[in-house]
Amino acid sequence: MHILFAPIQGYTDSVYRNAHNQLFGNSIYKYYTPFIRVEKGGIRKHDAKEFGAERNSELIEKGVLTPQILPANAEEADYLINELANTGYREFDINLGCPFPMIAKHHKGCGLLPYPDEVKELLGVTERHPDLKFSLKMRLGLEDAYEWKGLTTIINSTPLSHVTIHPRTGRQQYKGEIDLNAFGEMLDAIQHPIVYNGDLLTPADAQKIQEQYPKVGALMIGRGLLANPCLADEIVSGVPTTQKEKAEKIGELHEMLLEGYSNVLDGGECQILAKMKTVWVYLLPEMGKRERKKIEKSKNLQEYCGFVQNALKASY
Ligand SMILES: Cc1cc2nc3c(=O)[nH]c(=O)nc-3n(C[C@H](O)[C@H](O)[C@H](O)COP(=O)(O)O)c2cc1C
Repeated sequence: MHILFAPIQGYTDSVYRNAHNQLFGNSIYKYYTPFIRVEKGGIRKHDAKEFGAERNSELIEKGVLTPQILPANAEEADYLINELANTGYREFDINLGCPFPMIAKHHKGCGLLPYPDEVKELLGVTERHPDLKFSLKMRLGLEDAYEWKGLTTIINSTPLSHVTIHPRTGRQQYKGEIDLNAFGEMLDAIQHPIVYNGDLLTPADAQKIQEQYPKVGALMIGRGLLANPCLADEIVSGVPTTQKEKAEKIGELHEMLLEGYSNVLDGGECQILAKMKTVWVYLLPEMGKRERKKIEKSKNLQEYCGFVQNALKASY
């Protein structure tokens, strides 16, 4: 079973993906970039750098990085695809799942799901690029878990490598019950390979989905991998990582992240420290509250690194 690393805006950036790939890349079939979109008629300077060849060459060359686009219509999609294809990308994931209200209310992300005509127009962009590959990442609907039914014919008649389904509605954001009944029905209705995505935190969670839905072709994992970067290794190998091995691997990953962010951020120590603290929003949830607080409150990088080392040691 292939494991795909989900896009998580603000977390799975180029520094994170490159570091994770160096340590755990053997178990990840593909990494997906957080969404890229058109703003004020173009791609933001920061995004152009972030998605550009310089920061992503290794993964692009290996063919394991797919950019995700968040277009409102075929014209925006066409623009983004042409820009990104110039960088060397040959596959594109189209976001029909983003639930952020500021995005959804403009008929982007999952805000498009109640509008089959708009989805049809957008997906028409695939016909303009027969030499490129496309996939979709979507939710069940914006308001209703069966909105996808209005899109089945359109999705089935679009040339897609796969469809990733996060079985929640946009209104649920990232919380609340996953709707496996609706997912099961969608799995039967969509004729493309299906990737399951949502709330996979342990190898047992992954196994359950595999057993319950043998038709599922791959699993996409986001927060579970940010919490335990070894999770894909554990799923693929079937061998659990000991807490000590995990702490050591996380220590290595952490060093690579610190070096990577120090190279790309130009706001000095304060900015690097703030960025490194965000890593702990998801990482190692089993860590003690006291250790986590110390990391959160650290005032400079030296203090921060000391707290991180102590916390990793205390975790096994
Ligand atoms: C903070 C945050 C940012 C996200 N950014 C993106 C994004 O850029 N593109 C996307 O398709 N999904 C995005 N997602 C959704 C994840 O890719 C994934 O679908 C969701 O977290 C459920 O999977 P998980 O339970 O394995 O994390 C984001 C989720 C979170 C929590």
